[in-house]
Amino acid sequence: MEIKIIHLPKIEDERGNLSFFQNNSHIPFVIKRTYWIYDVPGGEYRGGHAFKEQQEVIIALSGSFDVVLHDGKQEHRFLLNRSYYGLYIPGKIWRSLENFSTNSLALIVSDMDFSESDYIRDFDMFKKLKANA
Ligand code: TYD
Repeated sequence: MEIKIIHLPKIEDERGNLSFFQNNSHIPFVIKRTYWIYDVPGGEYRGGHAFKEQQEVIIALSGSFDVVLHDGKQEHRFLLNRSYYGLYIPGKIWRSLENFSTNSLALIVSDMDFSESDYIRDFDMFKKLKANA
């Protein structure tokens, strides 16, 4: 499956809006782990790695940030600034999260338990791996 923006349900109500996702209908995998990134100081970035296998969906629950993806050939930049958009990222894609607005909150769901051995933290190694794929 390719990188894509997933439009999550948005139940509009004068009392406030509600969005949700559930396994196998909105998220294209079974969720194994959820983590979130917050209190990011101005000018900092997160990520700067790829996963060998892990798939993720990233949602800007609050505020905004850029997700910069690299597939080995091309860079793709996504501004996430709505809590009802999810960005699906398959395995073997380099990613960085940057330009965090004040008080932004990134929610990430993943199809795998945490595993340091699934990380590729060297961009040259990542490019070589993609070139030989
Ligand atoms: P890392 O994935 O490198 O952060 P980023 O979101 O910037 O890519 O993780 C930072 C640290 O947190 C690293 O030491 C591993 C640890 N960590 C866990 O223990 N469990 C997790 O689920 C995640 C995502 C990270």
